[in-house]
Amino acid sequence: MPNPSLLILPGDGIGPEVMTEVRKIIDWFDRKRGIRFDVGEDLVGGAAYDAHGTPLSDETMARAMAVDAVLLGAVGGPKYDVLDFSVKPERGLLRLRKEMDLFSNLRPAQCFDALADFSSLKKELVTGLDIMIVRELTSGIYFGEPRGIIDDNEGGRIGINTQRYTTNEIRRVARSAFELARRRNNRVCSMEKANVMESGILWREEVQWVHDNEYPDVELSHMYADAGAMQLVRQPKQFDVIVTDNLFGDLLSDCAAMLTGSLGMLPSASLGVVMENGRPRALYEPVHGSAPDIAGQGKANPCACILSFAMALRYSFDLGDEASRLERAVETVLANGIRTADLMMAEDGKAASTTEMGDAVVQALEASL
Ligand code: IPM
Ligand code: MG
Repeated sequence: MPNPSLLILPGDGIGPEVMTEVRKIIDWFDRKRGIRFDVGEDLVGGAAYDAHGTPLSDETMARAMAVDAVLLGAVGGPKYDVLDFSVKPERGLLRLRKEMDLFSNLRPAQCFDALADFSSLKKELVTGLDIMIVRELTSGIYFGEPRGIIDDNEGGRIGINTQRYTTNEIRRVARSAFELARRRNNRVCSMEKANVMESGILWREEVQWVHDNEYPDVELSHMYADAGAMQLVRQPKQFDVIVTDNLFGDLLSDCAAMLTGSLGMLPSASLGVVMENGRPRALYEPVHGSAPDIAGQGKANPCACILSFAMALRYSFDLGDEASRLERAVETVLANGIRTADLMMAEDGKAASTTEMGDAVVQALEASL
């Protein structure tokens, strides 16, 4: 059997720094657990634009299609704000999602006990919080046609985007939410705007159809997305799995992320259809962005990216126990008070650097043996 393969795309800003720490973790699993990956590395986002004039070259796209899983750091930065829309760093990420057909985006919002004080909500509302947001990632208003900016022939312009969902697109992401719920607390809440959008009516009907025909054992509820946003900050622990469309999922997942106290802690997985080798097409990335304000200073928190690798172990390589080992190692480090600056209060001591944080996780892994 060949080793499973990974393509690492560090990207921009803090992406390369946090990915260096993930490399240490990958090495550790190789040396100490005999879990060996063939690892390749390539450019995406602004870094790819600088080298090739495109945020994702065809060669890199082909490599991404050929590996078992892609690990991505972050894309974007102020330097690229002036670029034409078609070559902005974000287009590289969106191309990966679309061409790999990664329709199911898993964004866990989990509150680590040691960090409950960092939430903007009262501690008791978030302690023990564990929500999974399943965001549709390859359709909806992000990709719908027609789109563009056109003249209105009266001296003004019209900006157009189209929200569009098919039966199949809704059903497949709904199935992935129900599957996850069965392995968690067996509850799914679906969010749309069926009160104002036809695509929302279809969404609600199709999610209900999948439930009634295939997952009647899972508890299903529906909410309008605006009410859902309100409930997320009012009583977040009422949720188990939330399934929603591309745009609402973008907003709701940022909101849910902040409940947990730090964007620097949250991983994500984007999964597509199961390939011939039995593994889903997959891309793993931290929820946080490229954080240009702290890039290159050794201040970035590598945990979200490390935990994204844990998700890869679980969802791509069926190594749930090893994923849990890594997640526990991160928890141990936090509980021991080793923290990057984003996880510290003013009165706390000296912040750990990105490298120190990565090293501490490796040490905690070592101690887990
Ligand atoms: C995200 C980001 C992306 C999105 C951007 C960078 C294209 O906000 O992954 O949530 O809007 O999907
Ligand atoms: Mg977003």
